[in-house]
Amino acid sequence: MTHKETRQKFLGFFKERGHKIVPSSSLLPTDPSVLFTTAGMQQFKPYYTGQADAMKDFGSLNTVSIQKSMRMSDIDEVGDESHLTFFEMLGNFSFGGYWKEAAIAWAHDFITKKLGLKIDYVTVFEGLPSAGVPADEESEILWKAVDPKLTIKRASIQDNFWGPTGNEGPCGPTTEIYVKGVEVWNIVFNEFYYPGSREELLSGASSKKLENLKTAGIDTGMGLERLAMVVQNKNNVYETDLFEPIISSLPDHLDLGAKRIIADHLRSAVFLLSESVLPSNKEQGYVLRRLIRRILAFNISKDVIDIIINTYEAQYPELRVKRNDILDAYSQEQEKFNKTLRNGINELRRLNEIRAPEAFKLYESYGLPFEVIKDVAKDKAKNLTREAFDTEFKKHQDKSRAGAEKKFGGHGLLLDTGELKAGNKEELKKVTRLHTATHLLHASLRKIFGEEVKQQGSDITPERLRFDFTFPRKMTPEEIKQVEDMVNEAVQKDYKVIIEEMSYEDAIKSGAMAFFKLKYPNRVTVYTIGPSTGSGSAFSRELCGGPHVSHSAEVGHVKITKGEAVSAGVRRIRMVLDEP
Ligand code: ALA
Repeated sequence: MTHKETRQKFLGFFKERGHKIVPSSSLLPTDPSVLFTTAGMQQFKPYYTGQADAMKDFGSLNTVSIQKSMRMSDIDEVGDESHLTFFEMLGNFSFGGYWKEAAIAWAHDFITKKLGLKIDYVTVFEGLPSAGVPADEESEILWKAVDPKLTIKRASIQDNFWGPTGNEGPCGPTTEIYVKGVEVWNIVFNEFYYPGSREELLSGASSKKLENLKTAGIDTGMGLERLAMVVQNKNNVYETDLFEPIISSLPDHLDLGAKRIIADHLRSAVFLLSESVLPSNKEQGYVLRRLIRRILAFNISKDVIDIIINTYEAQYPELRVKRNDILDAYSQEQEKFNKTLRNGINELRRLNEIRAPEAFKLYESYGLPFEVIKDVAKDKAKNLTREAFDTEFKKHQDKSRAGAEKKFGGHGLLLDTGELKAGNKEELKKVTRLHTATHLLHASLRKIFGEEVKQQGSDITPERLRFDFTFPRKMTPEEIKQVEDMVNEAVQKDYKVIIEEMSYEDAIKSGAMAFFKLKYPNRVTVYTIGPSTGSGSAFSRELCGGPHVSHSAEVGHVKITKGEAVSAGVRRIRMVLDEP
């Protein structure tokens, strides 16, 4: 079964069962605090909370969609068998129309009858007694009713509880379907509203309680690539017909990992370009630049872009409409990149001998690939071996992991953690200082205004930090001054910045603040700034991936340049390094 048939089957199946087919929303969500659309439910959020009326907007309480989605969290894993940046999510949704019984029976029918697959097992929520949520026995009974022989496993809140996303929102237990060992379908029973973050909920330490949503709803998500893999009986997503034409159009001499990175990144780039995102140094444009630059050194023919457009245009006509713009933007970025490469070659010519450290530096600063260095340097690089280069690369990678900085695909010393962005060493120093300043600012705001201040967003460039937080009104000039003074005082005290690694639970128990991310890994790093690492007494204590300065005085004097409103209840502060 082709991926096109799979898409149509899914939409048709739910249409026959009273769902209105809704087109994918943009990859760029209306919510400014998130960069990309990461799940099908995002466009439907107001229908769960009752802020919007599904009957009025769709003529039905139930919808079905195929959503363009991007998740950047796994970008460094792309190249293996399963990780992707862009993916399509099949989902059926209900806002008070149906509940667990229909959701489970339909999911079972679709997987086993429409697709003819065998379900390995399903998981259901084991419950959270501390929050008064029992195990999801109802789903167990419903699964048994559709298949008495089915294996049902119970899973914890980490895996089988969705949301809330952001600082509060709808959430609920999930049941997941596994086929051929792969989790293919996540079915969420949005029955609660939690007035805090997922981290607070998981910590068990918050006094906030889960509330019942007035209208419980269904939200499901099934990644098309993974589904196509099991339907088409392939070993990995790249062997499916979603990727095969792209992969097979790439030059034979490339290794498989490189081909996968090119296929994934170019596909994501084409979709972003089709939504008029252009390569730049901020936000979505920065991610796009990162995706494109990672693959430019491979010198891939632009025909591959046409193959991607051909593969996807039936479902996403905007790709055809924007074809020329996509190709133009890609060429322009290639031009800019070639200029950097030329600079790198000039630099190479100035060197007398090129061994692994020099070669790596050329790669790191100008994106010169190993092969190009060998080619251009000739005799000067006669002692340079691939092995030595890889060892140097690995050494650097380990070092950069330790500093929690993520490389911009090796082209230029560019840091991109999503929150921090730097293009070279100079910039890296500045964003590192501003990053520590962000922690001091956050802590100061909470000391002055109390716990109602909650981080909503943080964005750091070499020029400034930008920090969004919940606060109900305009701050007075005196208050802004008070915050600025408190940060500068913490800078002057030259507190040590301490990094500790610990389990997520221990981190939350020790009073570390955690924000944003839906799922933290089991081991996390905690940055403490202040006189003591003991719980409560430090100036600031946050879960964070770094990097930070090692003593607060390295931040230097800072200045708040602007306080403004972002939306109702959310304020934004901009702060700069106050130096000549
Ligand atoms: N919102 C759920 C997910 O993305 C279905 O997994």
